[in-house]
Amino acid sequence: MSEILIIDKIKKDIKPYFETDSSGHDYSHILRVYNMAMKIAAEYKYCDKKIVALAALLHDIDDDKLFKTKNYANAKKIMKQNNISQSDINTVIEIISKVSFRKGESFRDDEIEGQIVQDADRLDAIGAIGIARAFAYGGSKGRSIFSSIDHFTEKLFLLKDLMNTPAAKRIAKNRHFFMVEFYHQFELENKALS
Ligand code: ADP
Ligand code: NI
Repeated sequence: MSEILIIDKIKKDIKPYFETDSSGHDYSHILRVYNMAMKIAAEYKYCDKKIVALAALLHDIDDDKLFKTKNYANAKKIMKQNNISQSDINTVIEIISKVSFRKGESFRDDEIEGQIVQDADRLDAIGAIGIARAFAYGGSKGRSIFSSIDHFTEKLFLLKDLMNTPAAKRIAKNRHFFMVEFYHQFELENKALS
């Protein structure tokens, strides 16, 4: 099977895992991270696009917030059933184990493929989508909107300076600006109520 067909098949395979999510990790998040990662990867000549595609599509499929798997069992199963080589499986697992920004702000993947997927995931946590996801996530944990607003200052406003690639830094700028505007408007309206 060609690489494009394998990626299409994997997209179909992973869809059921994310269909019922309402915490901001739904299938659209996976597709946005994938599309963004491929867009950033296009700016690099020496970058393994297949690895980027696989890591982007599988980056949340063993996330402990969503699944109770051990040792990246879902990602491994899906790659094996699609005949991905053992060495590619190892590389992809290495990347997805490092992607989450919760696992240490200062982490930086040495390889460009990992840096790209990490940037794409972080970009989906800021801007209009990022705002929506923060409230969805907070709500799914039974938290108030004010607790989600605190997450903006504690984490989301820091993300623009944590991007690895120039392309992501560029995109993060606008999204960050939009989120800060939203934050100020929220504070303004909330103050008027008290
Ligand atoms: P990852 O992308 O690695 O799964 P997180 O789980 O921290 O990392 O973030 C996923 C999404 O959930 C992001 O959009 C983030 O803003 C949101 N989120 C995570 N923690 C909180 C929180 N305490 N309050 C509101 N939103 C949160
Ligand atoms: Ni994600």
